[in-house]
Amino acid sequence: MNSGYLTIDGRIVPFEKGQTIIEASTRAGIYIPHLCHNPDFEPHGSCKVCTVNVNGRNCSACTMPAVDGQNILSQTEALNSLRHTIIQMLFVEGNHFCPGCEKTGSCDLQALGYYLNMTDLHFEPMFPHREVDASHPDILLDRDRCILCGLCVRASKEIDLKDAFGLSGRGLKSYLSINSESGLLRDTDISIEDRAVHVCPVGALLVKRKAYEIPIGKRLYDADPISWVRLRSELDSEEGCVDDG
Ligand code: SF4
Ligand code: FES
Repeated sequence: MNSGYLTIDGRIVPFEKGQTIIEASTRAGIYIPHLCHNPDFEPHGSCKVCTVNVNGRNCSACTMPAVDGQNILSQTEALNSLRHTIIQMLFVEGNHFCPGCEKTGSCDLQALGYYLNMTDLHFEPMFPHREVDASHPDILLDRDRCILCGLCVRASKEIDLKDAFGLSGRGLKSYLSINSESGLLRDTDISIEDRAVHVCPVGALLVKRKAYEIPIGKRLYDADPISWVRLRSELDSEEGCVDDG
């Protein structure tokens, strides 16, 4: 049963009790750009790409509950400019060399760059040197591409019930840690069937020896923009079909 109505960019949107703004907007077929949000997991609220203006104040659509009568702005020049800056900052904070990355064409960060018309990095690249974990026979973790969205952490904990990952450190020293005594993936019970291995929105967590199984031209965002692809897959996911792309 609907428990109220809000407006998003002038469109009246019904919502159900307990829904967040992004859940109500997805249900209504309105895309709010996002990175660390996935409707299958608890919200994380870390990337801020989903920032919207609610009754005059900016907040994260993935964590803010839907409330009757909210007036929400999403597709404004100011908010898209903020999102654009966040994406540029994420690009320079890691090593995201799209032409040489096997996730190209299926990467949310790259697709959001296109969606927001990003044409340069603007900031000085940081070229980090973070530890690569290639210890597992089937799974590779390239921390230089990790955007710390926490999706693998939540998937491993909430769906796989393995708790293989954690977010450690603070600020620029934050990193994705592995919950094993050695700190290596090979000493966890993670396997390629796990949801955590397939949920990474960038090319940080990958299954080995699968790089070109899906040829360029047929990848997730090759035909349609992220706004369509995400809406479609998140509406499917509400209906019980899981596809992380
Ligand atoms: S490895 Fe991927 S899913 Fe995990 S925190 Fe980093 S970017 Fe997110
Ligand atoms: S998608 Fe809402 S903060 Fe990342």
